Amino acid sequence: MRFVRELTSWLSGAAEADDFPYSPVLAEFHRVGKHFVEKELLALLDHVRAQVTAPAPGPPTPAGRLLRDFLDVALDKWDGRYDYRSYLALRLLRLPCGADDPPGSAEAVHAGGPAAHPDRARRDRDRLLARLVADALAFEEAAAAEATDLLPEDRPGREVVAKRHRLGVRAASPALARLGLAGAAHHPEPAAVLRALAADRTPAGEPALWLSMLPVYVSHDEYLFIRVLQAYECLFAGLVDELRATIAALAAGRARAAADRLAYACRQLTAAGPLFSLLATMQPAAFRTFRQYTEGASAIQSRSYKLMESLCRTPEEARLESPAYQQVPEVRDRVHAGQPSVDEAFRAAVRAGLLTGADVDLVARAMGAFAAAVLQWRRTHHRLATRMLGPRPGTGYTEGTPYLAAVRSIPVFSSVTPDPDPSSGARPSGGSPE
Ligand code: HEM
Repeated sequence: MRFVRELTSWLSGAAEADDFPYSPVLAEFHRVGKHFVEKELLALLDHVRAQVTAPAPGPPTPAGRLLRDFLDVALDKWDGRYDYRSYLALRLLRLPCGADDPPGSAEAVHAGGPAAHPDRARRDRDRLLARLVADALAFEEAAAAEATDLLPEDRPGREVVAKRHRLGVRAASPALARLGLAGAAHHPEPAAVLRALAADRTPAGEPALWLSMLPVYVSHDEYLFIRVLQAYECLFAGLVDELRATIAALAAGRARAAADRLAYACRQLTAAGPLFSLLATMQPAAFRTFRQYTEGASAIQSRSYKLMESLCRTPEEARLESPAYQQVPEVRDRVHAGQPSVDEAFRAAVRAGLLTGADVDLVARAMGAFAAAVLQWRRTHHRLATRMLGPRPGTGYTEGTPYLAAVRSIPVFSSVTPDPDPSSGARPSGGSPE
């Protein structure tokens, strides 16, 4: 087998991370699905990992780090630590995925304060989101043209592929416009930009993106599922940045800056709506087939989502002690350690006289609009889960959609009420945030 031949030859040579034979390894994972890779092959990869993680002088090289992160994703089931974050290869994508967020992640970028380099962080996220969608659409096109033998089971018909294309373009267009790549008169069509981005996605140019696709089975739709979840993770990580910056702005009494950050977050979340529509084109039967092998990986383990939730408002103790936060202990610890929230920062700013008059309304309106966007996200998510899952339990060991129905109306903020019509503004609840 090519996998064994090339790995053995790599091991008996210089075994440099730059020359690691990724292609045959990926090909084997893709041929059968991560869940079904033979034990002997995994043992061989485990042996490679022991070599590349052996203590060496100095910090790891970028190639060494990439290889280590890839092996951790590839060997998650073998190690018995398979979960949502390893399923989505979040570490490879440099997205926050644990208490030890990798250097280069947004949190590290923001170590000098949440307001440091906001444009660069936003652009990085836009670029990643656009590339994820571009790649998902490129796979759909390649499969429809029978130009790939990757994930051959349950391929959708041409109509579904066309619909996915339309929705993917809609989901990525705002990011492309912000990046200055589409949206203006002299720009190419967003679809053409996405095609160009996908063509650029060579193993040499974008290795992390290429390596971050390790489906558990060989069902076509799992590709879409993984890319949409990764895109949402990218979005949530961005919302976390915006909320942290909002808290800092409120503490400094900068109402306009706080409202702008919230408004940006609100637009991001709302503009991502077509991602859910895109995922709704998944064939429920295909989903139910591959999800048999995703047991134990659930977005209930999404660190960024729970950070987002808890940065809005400190969750009640009952929620903190429920599976929702038991699955993300590092976030629960942050809350217990006194992580500030927008809700509290808003009240404190009003109490201290840092926000007065029209500024209170300005921030309250932005909070109300953001809360409405989060509630909308939860409702759509619940509807999608009901359609795909029916009465089955979740892969995160909750009872499934009854859990989602129960949590969808948890208040986003307690100091303002969500705006039923985000374009018209929101009021502090009870007329005052006190
Ligand atoms: C086929 C589509 C989907 C289904 C059937 C589904 C189903 C579920 C279920 C049953 C849960 C409860 C936890 C569990 O037992 O697993 C859950 C939680 C969650 N899902 Fe999804 N989901 C889907 C898509 C998505 C997408 C695209 C995202 C975006 C990242 C997402 C984000 C979340 C989050 C953040 C939670 C935790 C909610 C909380 O604890 O309050 N889901 N999902």
